[in-house]
Order: sequence, then C-alpha cells, then structure tokens
Amino acid sequence: MTDIVTDRTARTTVAAQAPKSPEFGASFTAHMVTASWTADGGWSPLVLQPHGPLPMSPAMVGLHYGQVVFEGLKAHRRTDGTVSVFRPDRHAARLAESARRLAIPPLPERLFLDAVDLLVAADQDELQHVGPNAPALSLYLRPLLYASEAHLGLRPAREYAFLLIAFVTGGFFADGPEPVPVWVSTRHHRAAPGGTGAVKFAGNYAPTYLAQEEAARAGCRQVVWLDAAERRWVEELGGMNLFFVRGRGAGAQVVTPPLGGTLLPGVTRDSLLHLATRLGYETREERVAVDQWRAECAAGTITETFASGTAAAVTPVGSVRHGDAEWRIGDGGAGPVTLALHNALTGVQTGRSPAPDGWLR
Ligand code: COI
Repeated sequence: MTDIVTDRTARTTVAAQAPKSPEFGASFTAHMVTASWTADGGWSPLVLQPHGPLPMSPAMVGLHYGQVVFEGLKAHRRTDGTVSVFRPDRHAARLAESARRLAIPPLPERLFLDAVDLLVAADQDELQHVGPNAPALSLYLRPLLYASEAHLGLRPAREYAFLLIAFVTGGFFADGPEPVPVWVSTRHHRAAPGGTGAVKFAGNYAPTYLAQEEAARAGCRQVVWLDAAERRWVEELGGMNLFFVRGRGAGAQVVTPPLGGTLLPGVTRDSLLHLATRLGYETREERVAVDQWRAECAAGTITETFASGTAAAVTPVGSVRHGDAEWRIGDGGAGPVTLALHNALTGVQTGRSPAPDGWLR
C-alpha cells in the first residue's frame, strides 16, 4: 500500500442535495486525491483532501503548453449494495500510455489504484442506492496528470502533479439511452496519423467545440469525425467510439473501426467487443466509409449504430447528417442489439450479471 496522508472534510455527502439525475460533470464529490512528482524525489505519497482550489504558478507548463493527460472511469453501486470500479487497471494502463506520448513520467499502476480506492472509500456514500426505478447514478472518476513546473522554456516539465476528482452522474446524455442525431464534420478533423488521437490528451477536446457548435446548429448532438488522410473513413465521435450493427437477430454482426493510431482505444469499446461475443454475435474490426454507411442503411444492411464510452455507456445513434444528405438508421429508435449490449454492460457493472475475471474492483 502506498503512503497516504488524509485530510477529510466534514462534508460527507452531496447526494442528498443533488438533483435526481445531475448534469454530467457538475456534481463534484467532497474529496480529491493529489500527488506530485519531481525528478529527484519521484512520486510523493497520495493525499486525500477536501475537493478545492489547487496552488498553481501563473507560469505552469500545463497551462501554457498543454502538457496534460487524463482518464475517465466509473464506480457503480451494485445490486448487493457494494460499490465496484469498472476496469481500473485498463484505465491506469491507458493513462501511462497517454503520459508517455506527452513526455510525462507515467503514474505507476499501484498509485493509480490506491488513489481510486481512497477516493471511492471516502465518497461512495454520495452514490445513492440504485432502486429499480431510480436513475442509474454512477461515480465518474477523473484522474489528471499535468506539468506543474513554472517554466516557459519549450521542453518537457521537470515537475508534475496527479489529481483525482469525482462527480456523481446519471449519464452523459440527460435523456438516458435515447437515440441521438449526429453530424459529420467535413471541414475539421480530430486526429491525424502520427498525432495524439489515440491517447487521452487534454488538447484533443477543445478543438472539437467549434464543430460541436456547428452540429448543434444543424440540430445534431454529436460530431462524427472522419479520417484526415482520405476524408471518408468513419473514426469516432470524439468522446465516444462508434459501432455498427449489420443484419438482425442472432446472426447480427457487431462492427467497429479498427484502432489505427488515430482513434481512442476505448475501455468500453473493448468491453463491448467481449460482451458481444459472449452474447453470440460475430464481431469485426473493420473500416466503414461514410458513403458506405449511408448506402448500407438505405439497403437495410446496417440496421443499428451506437456510440460507446465511459461517459456515454451505450448510446444509440438515430440519424446522420452529412452535407446535404440526411439518413435514418433503422427506424430511428434504439435497436435490439444496441439494447442487448447496453443491458449486458450495465448488468456487469451493477452486478446483475457475472463479470469477466478482473473487470471489477
Ligand atoms: C469518457 O467517456 O470518459 C470521456 O472521457 C469522454 C468525455 C466526457 C471527455
């Protein structure tokens, strides 16, 4: 066990004051965990302290040059009343991968897991018990690694900080697993070969806001990103991976774009490929061009499309806008394979169905 310093706040719960399904990213829990790194001393002990402002130099490298990476994982209240964290080891590994890409010293898995245990133990009461009719609340955990050194020379920092905060959420989309309309960006691209698209770099996100605003003006909720080289292969939704369903019933195929270095290797993506196989579907990692997506929807070959992610879980896509073209997926509602995978995922997370070995902590 890592050395730990604790400073608990008197505030023990916010859940009582929180709305039934709090806005995503807004209902923070009472505590946070911090640690720091220096070249001489390595990682400091973890500190559990009240969620609050951080000391920061105005010349901090992370603020000026964006040397910042993060993760997103969830803890769920299970039907037996206990709380479990979903695949934290995979998130620790991805944070280390992101850190290496940004020339940040990776956080050891042991420290990551101890920080998660510490914060979940301190704040789990904020996760109300999920009754059969209550919204499925979860604790979204946000680990962050940032360059904290005050230095404006253009080189990797020599001091870093780790931070773990959490918020209570009912889900990324306030309406739950309702189908969302999506909009294909043709003017902007999210990631290029050799870039940072495959890691959770903070700078991957703000450049998508402009396209997100354009999508909203077109009546859509999310942006579909195409590959930057050929501008035709569907990659992901920025904060979520994409899946296509071909065919129907037991013979349906579950298809998702392959990880070619420009899209994020989602932990939920990986889990759904596994659960789809367990449900008896054939799974394929295969590129789908945007025109092919439209043609296959028209022909009835692609019957469903859904987004996946820690925040989004499994969210059906109802329709697509691409330039002047617009098409509906299936009947525009949540399809049976999407719902089966949604139930399989939430079933494992909340203890309604058995979890594959090592998935729950
Ligand atoms: C997640 O699904 O955890 C994400 O990181 C997406 C977004 C909220 C940043």
